[in-house]
Amino acid sequence: MRKKPGQLAWDKPQLQRPHEQRDKALRVRHMFDGVASRYELVNRVFSAGRDAAWRRKAVELAAAGADDAVLDVACGTGDFLRAFAAIANPPWRLVGCDFSHGMLREAISTSPNRQFHWIEADALLLPLAPELFTVASCAFGVRNFQDLDAGLREMWRVLKVNGRIVILEFTRPENRLFRLLYEFYANRFMPWAATWVSGDRTGAYRYLPRSVVSFIGAAEMCRRLQEAGFGNVIAARMSLGIVTIYVGTKQSTAHG
Ligand SMILES: C[S@@+](CC[C@H](N)C(=O)[O-])C[C@H]1O[C@@H](n2cnc3c(N)ncnc32)[C@H](O)[C@@H]1O
Repeated sequence: MRKKPGQLAWDKPQLQRPHEQRDKALRVRHMFDGVASRYELVNRVFSAGRDAAWRRKAVELAAAGADDAVLDVACGTGDFLRAFAAIANPPWRLVGCDFSHGMLREAISTSPNRQFHWIEADALLLPLAPELFTVASCAFGVRNFQDLDAGLREMWRVLKVNGRIVILEFTRPENRLFRLLYEFYANRFMPWAATWVSGDRTGAYRYLPRSVVSFIGAAEMCRRLQEAGFGNVIAARMSLGIVTIYVGTKQSTAHG
């Protein structure tokens, strides 16, 4: 049954278990369509500018260069792809993919030149032939997938052998005191203030902290990357563990 936009806003019961909602993908797409125009502003303000530094570090760890072809999955407004484009020897191909029309519209309007290619598609079913890219990236996207393993397998499929996956995702800080302080900020102050700044009506900024605390941790993510066929997996914690960058390599065309 088709849902009306009002029925797609996150409410309390769904936020208890956001990753278990059968219509999570639909809600996520609706939510990002709703916040697209203020998405980058809210990120900058509520991370105090750190989000740009995290993306730059992830690009560095991906060791990208002029010979690379990059697919940025769940590219949103194109922030991560623009960080790849900003390095001294930028990759020769930069493709962004997202299923939110609103986010892609922002991406196109803020990056109008021909350096970038954009695809409106679901990350779990990429309309792309196998082995086209040397880097598959995803910043703050995998947590939102309906099926994490299917998304990782798709990124593996479109990579050439020796291609790298680079994922940037929120994690929970390890230090107990810092975690308490940070989660007070993330659970109490940020949802209220970010909703006010963005004018959001979809519950996006209440979903954000809930989706982080109920998501898998770094050790489990490394395991899932290995299960999807990646080797040499590393996890680099940033900003006392608020986010983690994962890098892995596709070692052969055969799985596992
Ligand atoms: C938090 S935003 C991150 C955007 C961008 N990567 C960045 O660093 O700012 C998450 C993005 O993931 C996209 N997304 C979530 N699930 C997706 C899926 N299954 N297929 C394609 N895009 C997806 C959303 O539409 C949204 O634009």
